[in-house]
Amino acid sequence: MATYYPKNALDTKRIARKLWQNIRQAKIVFLSGPLGAGKTFFVKQLGKVLGIKEEIISPSFQLIKVYSIQNTNLRLVHTDLFRLDIKSQNDFLELFEYLGDEKNIVLIEWGEKIANFIKPKMTIEFSGIKKRKIKVKNLTQICKPDGLANLG
Ligand SMILES: Nc1ncnc2c1ncn2[C@@H]1O[C@H](COP(=O)(O)OP(=O)(O)OP(=O)(O)O)[C@@H](O)[C@H]1O
Ligand SMILES: [Mg+2]
Repeated sequence: MATYYPKNALDTKRIARKLWQNIRQAKIVFLSGPLGAGKTFFVKQLGKVLGIKEEIISPSFQLIKVYSIQNTNLRLVHTDLFRLDIKSQNDFLELFEYLGDEKNIVLIEWGEKIANFIKPKMTIEFSGIKKRKIKVKNLTQICKPDGLANLG
């Protein structure tokens, strides 16, 4: 587990860069936390780290957005379940198909809504607006939980 306190976009980008290898290994990552806490903002910064040229925008209206990641065969899949009423797997079948593909790195805002069906290897919790906090849970061992000062 690691906790970061990003003060701005640059800090957030550094955190995204640091977490990328973990995210890539986890393949499915829940982004949790209240409205406006910075979930989409984090994905935007990660997109910059990965050299994604398209602008990453909130997937609230178009539910699933897919971006190819340069120089890899991977895709970044970004979704937001906030508006979905989920009672069974049938309510998110389309997303379920993306989850089954090894090449997809799937970031799910409001992933807790499908926690009964899917257990991600990694969850990133966002909170605070005056003092923003990013808390990473279920880290795999390659990411040492050291502080922001060590971010390259
Ligand atoms: N780390 C950050 N540094 C600076 N500004 C931020 C940061 N995170 C978020 N913001 C600002 O807060 C706004 C809301 O953040 P964001 O859209 O990422 O929230 P969200 O968690 O995705 O909310 P929702 O659940 O509504 O999708 C952003 O437009 C951005 O201006
Ligand atoms: Mg969002």
